[in-house]
Amino acid sequence: MPEKKEKYYLTTPIYYTNGLPHIGHTYTTVVCDTIRRFKRMRGYDVVMTTGTDEHGVNVERAAKKAGIPESEFVAKMASEWRALWDELGVAADEFVRTTDIQHVRTVQWLFRLFRENGYVYKGHYTGQYCIYDNAFVNDAKPGDNCPDCGRPTETVTEENYFFKLSAFQKPLLDFYKKNPDFIQPETRKNEVVTFVEGGLKDLSITRTTLRWGIPVPGEEPHVFYVWFDALTAYLSAVGGPDYEKRGYWPADLHVVGKDIIRFHTVYWPAFLMAAVLPLPMQVWAHGWFLMDAAKMSKSKGNVVLPRPIVNMLGMDALRYFLLREVVFGQDGNFSYDALVTRYNSDLANGLGNLASRTVALIEKNFAGKIPKPGPRQPQDDALAKEAQAAIGEVLERYDKMEFARALETIWSVIGAADKYLTAEQPWALGSSEADQARKATILWTAAELLRVVVALANPVLPATAAKVWILFGQAGSLDSFELDGLRWGQLAPGAQLGKAQTLFPRVDKAEAIERIESMANEELNPKPAAPAPAAAPPAAGTVAAASAPAATTPEKIGIEDFSKVEMRVGQVKTAERIVGADKLLKLTVDIGTEVRQICAGIAQFYEPESLIGRKVVVVVNLAPRKLRGVESNGMIVAASVGPDGRPVLAGFLEDVEVGARLK
Ligand code: MSP
Repeated sequence: MPEKKEKYYLTTPIYYTNGLPHIGHTYTTVVCDTIRRFKRMRGYDVVMTTGTDEHGVNVERAAKKAGIPESEFVAKMASEWRALWDELGVAADEFVRTTDIQHVRTVQWLFRLFRENGYVYKGHYTGQYCIYDNAFVNDAKPGDNCPDCGRPTETVTEENYFFKLSAFQKPLLDFYKKNPDFIQPETRKNEVVTFVEGGLKDLSITRTTLRWGIPVPGEEPHVFYVWFDALTAYLSAVGGPDYEKRGYWPADLHVVGKDIIRFHTVYWPAFLMAAVLPLPMQVWAHGWFLMDAAKMSKSKGNVVLPRPIVNMLGMDALRYFLLREVVFGQDGNFSYDALVTRYNSDLANGLGNLASRTVALIEKNFAGKIPKPGPRQPQDDALAKEAQAAIGEVLERYDKMEFARALETIWSVIGAADKYLTAEQPWALGSSEADQARKATILWTAAELLRVVVALANPVLPATAAKVWILFGQAGSLDSFELDGLRWGQLAPGAQLGKAQTLFPRVDKAEAIERIESMANEELNPKPAAPAPAAAPPAAGTVAAASAPAATTPEKIGIEDFSKVEMRVGQVKTAERIVGADKLLKLTVDIGTEVRQICAGIAQFYEPESLIGRKVVVVVNLAPRKLRGVESNGMIVAASVGPDGRPVLAGFLEDVEVGARLK
């Protein structure tokens, strides 16, 4: 019988659905995903929950603005959040939506427990209300204007159910004392304790002015206060009222930003105490990523979006940067400059270069097989010792949530290996038996070091680590590799290397930043949608002739409409792939009067070299636009073939002059 694995449950906050994720949200989620992967690799049975906080007045307004029902709006937003986490390699086990029926039941059940245990009463809440926006304005005094619309607020009294938070002052202070690690880091704990010592007021946990919320059974129009609703999601994700059956509650860890620590360390434990349910073990509050020294927010216009960075540099580059750049717990500044600098120095020149150098040398000298090491010299042992020592150190640092320091240790081993190769110069050794044996030792050492390094880096860089793992002929998934069994010396000679590949192509900093910013701009200010095409849209940068007749007869156009489209014969001069855009090729095309740069969505079907010299049809009078941040000035015409819309470039059977117009 296999030993039963210890359970570990961790959560991200449940994100608001009135907006889309930025780097701040990404940070929390990537941290949790890293912990999840790390705990898995240490043999835990881990569940990680993330999800969406879908109720409240802001969602109500956003849906109204979008002109669709709230339920449709939140479903769309939830799928956007989910899709982004997939693109970032976030492997959450549970995605809870606060509109899920299981969650609704859990919230109502918890309220019933409060009532049965005597912790709720009906009262009145008085506050400033904006009649134009239909919302209470928190922290406003009589006479203040609404911060949203600028119009005067009114003092309104509403009937609410109150939660007896005041009854939990002493129990909470006792709990903090008995569980000194409950709130992390220490500075945050002091803030919370001081706040609770200052006295707790009862909390209104229902609203009658809000429509889009979970109804209080039998008490309509009361709906639950969004924070009571949202916090409960942590429990509903792992069984709600039946949490004991699944066995993951209480949570081991809630990771949150410092902005929401009070909700998690005061309200949430008090709610659970009132319902006589087990309390979470720990709440970790991290700092903020700042942009221009301010917290990111859409209204300030200083948000950084994750997707353009992932498109340009890859998901691992973003994950690495977020965890390497700031000390977990503290605030840090986000800058594209620092991001691309780290990408080039640590990833392209560091890990990427070490891997490609080692693979190339093993290919050349040992026919792509991991060599059997020969006699060792002191410098080989020194490097082995450093890598072995790093294993324990890195595990300890991950355990203490010191991600930046864990990565620093891993990268110092990479740096040492780089120096080792430069000093030992295996490429300068000859083919004598002694030289071959020396080469074997050096290259086995470098390969073993890479194996150790990627096993340790896997929680942060899962895509790259998996590639290197396979590259060095390692069996099984790295995700289920047990880190506690990792030792120097386990690399077996004889394994066949996989196909060499560039892990992190170097990028030009200015160009990369320009492209990231331009993609972000496109995402933040989308062009109004064009009318829906009759058939599937063509690949970007190409005009496709539909492979099947359209289901409905398209409207006929006059010759004057057709003549608006200027198509000319062009000849491809250069063609290259675009880093971070798998489907696009960047071409320069001679159209007779000039040479144009055009992007075409044909990279998956045409090798760039095969296009050079080829004559193609170009729509030349199309307004220039940017595709994935690269300027495209014109379109290449192609047929769209088969259900996948495979592009087939239009061409000529006879020789035609470059620049000739198609009529
Ligand atoms: N819906 C609530 C949370 C309910 S949890 C029961 C909420 N959502 S949120 O969409 O605003 O996300 C908040 C979380 O996103 C923060 O707590 C933090 O984890 C993260 N961040 C948002 N902006 C951030 C930065 N600029 N920097 C780092 N993290 C930040 O609050």
